[in-house]
Amino acid sequence: MDGEGSSTHGAVSFGPFRLFAAERQLKKGDEPLQLGGRALDTLIALVERAGEVVTQRELISRVWPDVTVEEANLRYHIANLRKVLGDGREGTRYIVTVSGRGYSFVAPVTRSTPQSSSIPQPLPPREAAVSDRLHRLPPKLTRMIGRDDTIRTLSAQLMMWRFVSIVGAGGIGKTTVAISVAHALLDGFDGAVFFVDLAALIDAKLVPTAVASALGFMLQTEDPLRSLAAFIGAKKILLVLDNCEHVIDIAAMLAERIVSEAPQAHVLTTSREALRVEGEHVHMLYALDCPPEDRGLTATAVLPYPAVQLFIERAVASGHGTVLSDIDAPVVATICRRLDGIALAIELAASRASFLGIRGIAELLDNRFSLVWHGRRTALPRHQTLKRCSTGAITCSRRTKRLSLAGSRSS
Ligand SMILES: Nc1ncnc2c1ncn2[C@@H]1O[C@H](COP(=O)(O)OP(=O)(O)O)[C@@H](O)[C@H]1O
Ligand SMILES: [Mg+2]
Repeated sequence: MDGEGSSTHGAVSFGPFRLFAAERQLKKGDEPLQLGGRALDTLIALVERAGEVVTQRELISRVWPDVTVEEANLRYHIANLRKVLGDGREGTRYIVTVSGRGYSFVAPVTRSTPQSSSIPQPLPPREAAVSDRLHRLPPKLTRMIGRDDTIRTLSAQLMMWRFVSIVGAGGIGKTTVAISVAHALLDGFDGAVFFVDLAALIDAKLVPTAVASALGFMLQTEDPLRSLAAFIGAKKILLVLDNCEHVIDIAAMLAERIVSEAPQAHVLTTSREALRVEGEHVHMLYALDCPPEDRGLTATAVLPYPAVQLFIERAVASGHGTVLSDIDAPVVATICRRLDGIALAIELAASRASFLGIRGIAELLDNRFSLVWHGRRTALPRHQTLKRCSTGAITCSRRTKRLSLAGSRSS
């Protein structure tokens, strides 16, 4: 759709609504709706780029061009918009939150030009809008450590078996790997790759709606799984379902149904446990390799290990010096082992290197008392803290569940 700075010409229709950007008016049928200026600006900005993720920052600079405002203001107007549109009622979805990134207008839209007056013209079929697809897939890590073979193997497995689940502990790197596989296969699917993060869904019943929204399809039926599979039909697509564990029953049913009824649909899921349904092939994802226990290890000996590379990269990013000394090498190796090679735990620990030093981190991990490590401010809540509880087990806080990263290593 139009780039930044352009306006939506004529009317844009979606569901029962028509949006007249130039006149700054939203109508339901023929009835004008009352909508505040900021909410209207937000809607126009989202509709102009329907199908894409518009970041919070882009929206804020568009809606409040001259002032700096808190993100809460944007959330307020989005909530208001959803209320006016009846978003979420009877399975209809207009605006979805893409966690950690922004918002996306997901309902199919048709547009009329001023010349063609009031008859809305369909946009090109969504299947053809390859750029939409690219925007739906989160960017891959600039540098992923130690997973090249895994990506190759998984890509081949997914092409062969059509339904693969990446299973492993929280923070081990499942999402990172899934995103990278999806990018590797983009061309093979002609861009028809859809990524659905199920983490933010509170109600498992919304899983089919979330998937339909990602596919650009509005579900309004009593048998959503059937109509989803029918909508996909013979299209060749790759559907990535991330974080299935907390909605596992419905995610499993949906994946099984799609794979069995849509012959060219491939499904890649990530989950802490297998979905255990027909057609699923489980790919266990293991932790990053750590050096063996040996006090005499030198820097040259530990650096080839992916867990150590990740620690050093994140420590340097936090402001720590770039050179790993032979004295610190066995300490870093011990830290990585104590964190069981779990990428998230290593990242969080290493981010403290600039002010604790490497030895300081090791000492803290040895400390029996409760500590809290705060993660990146922009990380998802479930990725934000790393705790050591009084039993000595190192855990990552994930909403209500605590996931042990260090097994029963109590001292
Ligand atoms: N191979 C890797 N190289 C670099 N960073 C990684 C790697 N795997 C995971 N990470 C980082 O570790 C964190 C947790 O990874 P994630 O994929 O979200 O784990 P999971 O999905 O298993 O919970 C993320 O911040 C991610 O960027
Ligand atoms: Mg994940």
